[in-house]
Amino acid sequence: MTHHKLIIGNCMSMQEIPDEGVHLMITSPPYFNAPFDYKGLFKSYEQYLDLLDRVAKEAFRVLQNGRIAVVNIDDMLVDGEKFPIVADVTKIFQNAGFRYRDRIIWKKPDGYLRISRRSGVLLQHPYPMYFYPDNLLESILIFQKGKFDYSSIPDDIREASKINIKEFFDNKWYMTLWEMVNVLPSSKLEKEIAAFPEELPYRIIKLFSYKGETVLDPFVGSGTTMKVARQLGRNSIGIEIKKSLITIIKKKLGFDRQLNFDDQDDTFEVIIRESGEYGCIS
Ligand SMILES: C[S@@+](CC[C@H](N)C(=O)[O-])C[C@H]1O[C@@H](n2cnc3c(N)ncnc32)[C@H](O)[C@@H]1O
Repeated sequence: MTHHKLIIGNCMSMQEIPDEGVHLMITSPPYFNAPFDYKGLFKSYEQYLDLLDRVAKEAFRVLQNGRIAVVNIDDMLVDGEKFPIVADVTKIFQNAGFRYRDRIIWKKPDGYLRISRRSGVLLQHPYPMYFYPDNLLESILIFQKGKFDYSSIPDDIREASKINIKEFFDNKWYMTLWEMVNVLPSSKLEKEIAAFPEELPYRIIKLFSYKGETVLDPFVGSGTTMKVARQLGRNSIGIEIKKSLITIIKKKLGFDRQLNFDDQDDTFEVIIRESGEYGCIS
């Protein structure tokens, strides 16, 4: 039986979560002022970095010692200027106390572009100085809080969480390059939400958490991390600023019709911070 808690509010504060209350964080923050999705959302780049700085500090507080925080993010091109988000976020997480453990590059299939095809500029003007490459890559940054105590996990939990080596090799999890199909904006549940594919939290949850533990996603969007956590027998906590996403998240997790999952005893709880500094938006 697993428990899933959705907090509707601003993740700059994770006030409902006690210190060391979660075992893994996986998240994909909003893209900095990306065309379409987040155009003009942040007043400045400093304001964007301030959000991530507060999230990194809260993540450090709520994660158990030895545990992992994974941030799916990438540099962003806005009006011809690339913002070095990967480098800045890495520094922000290091300053919050995390150790930078690794960076995996997520490659999307050729032609599967979410945002505009920038290479088209050169096709219209086939001359020097018009080159902007299409971006097929995102980064998956892996941070760790202190050292993990392998002996803290009981043998039965360790066995129940064993990684399938065939899956590990067949799908090339062992490399720093992960080829995964991304979710297109036209997909039904994730419309207008820059959702990541289930494959991403699936790999991270299997690689960095044990059965029965709690996975946090502070920018939970459509609820992909929570859904996969449920399927893999982990508890989850999601934070989302937009109240309007509650129905989508509930549906994605299968809590709108209990029959969807094998385990009928799983529970779903919603906490809404209606107002205040860290309240939600409708
Ligand atoms: C890139 S999307 C995450 C998508 C998610 N990984 C999924 O698969 O659906 C980022 C989400 O963060 C939410 N968000 C933005 N700022 C926030 C904040 N300060 N606190 C909580 N959620 C926030 C946005 O509303 C959006 O749904």
